[in-house]
Amino acid sequence: MGCHQVDKKLVGPAYKDVAAKYKGDKNALATLTKKVKTGGSGVWGPVPMPANAGVSDADVKTVVEWVLAGAPAK
Ligand code: HEM
Repeated sequence: MGCHQVDKKLVGPAYKDVAAKYKGDKNALATLTKKVKTGGSGVWGPVPMPANAGVSDADVKTVVEWVLAGAPAK
């Protein structure tokens, strides 16, 4: 919550921007699921995203699918 918002850059990129960047990228779900689990840096700026190892693979996949769909309001 402190790091990402749907339509505003915070510490991490806005999810809408993430969805736009990976639109049409068939590997995005796999790549980003792995990246959210293990953390990473260098795509959006110098600040790294820490590993989110406590989140289950299934939950990460669910959230990344939602992000790539443009983070629609529920
Ligand atoms: C389970 C929770 C989280 C999800 C689903 C998530 C999702 C994402 C996604 C999809 C990206 C884009 C990665 C890319 O384009 O390669 C990203 C990047 C990023 N996130 Fe997160 N994130 C989470 C937690 C966090 C937390 C807790 C922080 C801050 C402490 C954070 C900070 C960042 C930063 C700084 C980036 C940019 C990294 C770069 O430039 O490569 N994220 N996140």
